[in-house]
Amino acid sequence: MDLRSPDVADGKSREVQQELNAEASWDLFDSAAYVDRNYRFLRSDDAQILHMVRDHFSDYFRERPGRSGEAGATGTGRSGGPVLGIDVGAGANLYPALSMLPWCDAITLFERSAANVEYLEGQRPHYDAHWNDFWDVLCEEDAYRDLPGDEEPRARFRRTVEVQQGDLFSLDRYRGRWSMGTMFFVAESMSTSHQEFETGVERFMHALAPGAPFAAAFMEGSRGYKVGEQFFPACSVTAAEVRDSVVPYAEGDVRIASIGMPGGALRPGYEGMIVACGRRNSA
Ligand SMILES: C[S@@+](CC[C@H](N)C(=O)[O-])C[C@H]1O[C@@H](n2cnc3c(N)ncnc32)[C@H](O)[C@@H]1O
Repeated sequence: MDLRSPDVADGKSREVQQELNAEASWDLFDSAAYVDRNYRFLRSDDAQILHMVRDHFSDYFRERPGRSGEAGATGTGRSGGPVLGIDVGAGANLYPALSMLPWCDAITLFERSAANVEYLEGQRPHYDAHWNDFWDVLCEEDAYRDLPGDEEPRARFRRTVEVQQGDLFSLDRYRGRWSMGTMFFVAESMSTSHQEFETGVERFMHALAPGAPFAAAFMEGSRGYKVGEQFFPACSVTAAEVRDSVVPYAEGDVRIASIGMPGGALRPGYEGMIVACGRRNSA
């Protein structure tokens, strides 16, 4: 994942203008250009994120046998119902949903942009071959390699995934509905406002039931990014700010990891990625 705009990547400065979430042209998001730039090939930084998220979810369910989407299991969350997953701001990225696939009875891909909704709907029947490299990293854990009922990953993805168009600021009306969740590069990559960043994290967390395992990823120090011909806003966050935004909604330890860019060198406008893994509290 690389959300640097080309000029920022070249080290040229770009004046950052304030832009709130509702002001950006999300429907003009060029999903194909985004996939080509970020996910056509598996990058080492995304592989590190996959390792971390895979292990977090696998450990959670290993410690709680019976709480999974397997036939005969009793579900997760504290209600013992079906396991419902959500990926907030799914965009044109399938790997957060793939990371939840072994355990979920249903996965909601929640997304605002009409273009990305169309992309996700198009991937549902038979996702593209380049996602296999992402799946292969997950398959280093048994839960992914041996899907319930020996189901093939594409068949399970098709059966469990539903795409829902919506605005994450309205997620409040579904408070506590989902039993596990992901939100990758959304809260800090949708507005220049720190207030909206914090509200984005809060809406995601409030959508999860108490105890639900979650994984969230953030760009560190982003000043906005270009997708195709369109520029989108971001607010620059640090690992400490991510921790401060997540911890009030989490029980026990939250694991926060900073992931540098491939090659290790820091460049202007892009300082790396931050991943937060934990469990929702009841706040
Ligand atoms: C940088 S992209 C990240 C996409 C994807 N999650 C990923 O990991 O690559 C930000 C995504 O947030 C979505 N988004 C922006 N504002 C949103 C909102 N208010 N509600 C839901 N999704 C939103 C955008 O359409 C876009 O898909």
